[in-house]
Amino acid sequence: MEKKELLYEGKAKKVYLTDDPDLVIVDYKDDATALNGLKKGTIQGKGPINNRMSNMLMEMLEKKGVPTHYAGQIDDRNTLVKRVEIVPLETIVRNVAAGSFSKRFGVAEGTPLKSPAVEFSYKSDALGDPFINSSQAIALGIATKEEIEKIEDIALKVNGYLIAFFKELRIDLIDFKIELGRYKGDIILADEISPDTCRFWEAGTWDTTKHTSYDKDRFRRDLGGVEDAYEEIFRRIGG
Ligand code: TMP
Repeated sequence: MEKKELLYEGKAKKVYLTDDPDLVIVDYKDDATALNGLKKGTIQGKGPINNRMSNMLMEMLEKKGVPTHYAGQIDDRNTLVKRVEIVPLETIVRNVAAGSFSKRFGVAEGTPLKSPAVEFSYKSDALGDPFINSSQAIALGIATKEEIEKIEDIALKVNGYLIAFFKELRIDLIDFKIELGRYKGDIILADEISPDTCRFWEAGTWDTTKHTSYDKDRFRRDLGGVEDAYEEIFRRIGG
């Protein structure tokens, strides 16, 4: 399948049309942004790692019965995916308090949660992706009640499968963000699952002053060793 016109360019990926109206090609860049685009940089080798890692995880999830957009890797940076209409919500699932959750609720990073917390942000660069609840999302027509129920169900299933997958690799899945899309009347997993979109901590190191993270927090927080962290998590999953 060949790339046709550029359909969309995001912060970390470009999306191209193909001859097939139901399929697009995603091209992963090394560019990284954080703090709603205020912090910009490059993570050398990130594109191929995120591409291959996301594909491996989507394949694993498909096998477990989670519908995804994955349609086949083309090369190191390019993957064929189903063309979806992205639901403009970032769906976040948390197992351990960290990041904005810790700030908002005054809970120390590394505090285990009694049950997984699902939350949504409304995808809007202009508004800075504000926190939104399901009732507000339904009221604004961002998604229907049925769609929100499906999204929550998929998010929790993905959480369970990812926790189990990473546990084997001595990695704790602290939290992650997914995006879902509408495809032929259904809701399917889209976008990516990678160190850009997850918090991965070395198993058992939840003391935030000592934990080792293999994810984009190393870039967001200027912790150094960014490339090494991406390579390490990729190596552990067998990449
Ligand atoms: P947060 O603690 O900053 O809200 O992030 C929660 C999780 O979501 C974390 O794994 C990083 C991921 N995330 C994204 O993938 N994109 C984003 O724009 C944000 C804010 C978080």
